[in-house]
Amino acid sequence: MTLLVTGGAGFIGGNFVLDWLASADEPVVNLDKLTYAGNLDSLRSLQGDARHIFVQGDIGDRALLGELLAKYQPRAIINFAAESHVDRSIHGPGDFVQTNVVGTFNLLEAARAYWSELKDDAKRSFRFLHVSTDEVYGTLSESDPPFAETNRYEPNSPYSASKAASDHLVRAWHHTYGLPVLTTNCSNNYGPYHFPEKLIPLVLLNALKGKPLPIYGDGQQIRDWLYVKDHCSAIRRVLEAGQLGETYNVGGWNEKANLDVVKTICALLDELQPRADGQSYADQITFVQDRPGHDRRYAIDARKLEVDLGWRPAETFDSGIRKTVAWYLANQDWVENVTSGAYREWVATQYGAKT
Ligand code: NAD
Ligand code: DAU
Repeated sequence: MTLLVTGGAGFIGGNFVLDWLASADEPVVNLDKLTYAGNLDSLRSLQGDARHIFVQGDIGDRALLGELLAKYQPRAIINFAAESHVDRSIHGPGDFVQTNVVGTFNLLEAARAYWSELKDDAKRSFRFLHVSTDEVYGTLSESDPPFAETNRYEPNSPYSASKAASDHLVRAWHHTYGLPVLTTNCSNNYGPYHFPEKLIPLVLLNALKGKPLPIYGDGQQIRDWLYVKDHCSAIRRVLEAGQLGETYNVGGWNEKANLDVVKTICALLDELQPRADGQSYADQITFVQDRPGHDRRYAIDARKLEVDLGWRPAETFDSGIRKTVAWYLANQDWVENVTSGAYREWVATQYGAKT
């Protein structure tokens, strides 16, 4: 038995591979293109571990996919591979269409060709699990109920539109060809190995370097935050017991305004690594120009996953964010390694000289 994981050198995929191999002996073939967001340093603890087979490659490479599927005969494919950063999708949407839409199409086609040749039990038990986002549902006002699986798709950014397109392809491959698919739509993750272009690690890093903490617009945009290891446990549960063709919303029941998230991080840093001048890190908060088309609020109704499959997150925001801040303080070498070259270029493009 083997899993094929795509995008397993990224933030969530990396955590998934580490957690999987910490509790199971089933090998993982990890296919990742190693874009700027892919980082083998996150998987350093698996060096020399025969259960982890890393392959550098693109989910759009049908020939490579065919070879890997024939060679390793996985019982499931879990698709994490994607371009994932909304701001980058605004600056350059092409890669998002290429990987998230065309790449997922190629992966589905390779999976279909492989699955259609499987026999009996292997065919019945095969799964294609597509990891998606709550952003496909668009934006909520303060009084709207949280997103349920039945909400209409209304993606607003090039990123969320590309993810929505991929979700539709996955749905259609089930409906038309019978491919045994599962889709998860998750809220904002945070935790170890999070690339510091995203709000929480960016703020942590800037705070420690004495740089401004950039808040888009008024900072009152709301996100539902889920500790990454809870997302991984939800994916394991859906893989194990999800109903074919169904989608599952995954969330942390932790709605927070961005400004409150940043203030919480500052307060934790004040406690764990106080500034040399005795002032609060919150003094570094700086309001900057808003993101174009910025979604105001995301919130997830995760009751289906709880009622049907018995999953609930283990961490609250308070416990998860404390662990996260402590992890970043203890893993400065990982941070130093990811903040070279491509990362610095991005920060200059997005924030200019100010940060
Ligand atoms: P990430 O950007 O940290 O990692 C993406 C990984 O995919 C990287 O390792 C990258 O090298 C790889 N990749 C990119 N293009 C590829 C290609 N063409 N072929 C093979 N590999 C490729 O992203 P993440 O935050 O870990 O997100 C993983 C998945 O979860 C994505 O599909 C994303 O849409 C979804 N998601 C993310 C969040 C979140 O808060 N980060 C929440 C919900 C859903
Ligand atoms: O909701 C799930 C999504 O969460 C995932 O599908 C995406 O892959 C993931 O990147 C994340 O998207 P967001 O756009 O919500 O995450 P980000 O960390 O970029 O931003 C979180 C919020 O913080 C958002 O409202 C924008 C704001 N922000 C972000 C940055 C980088 C700032 O105010 N300042 C910043 O510098």
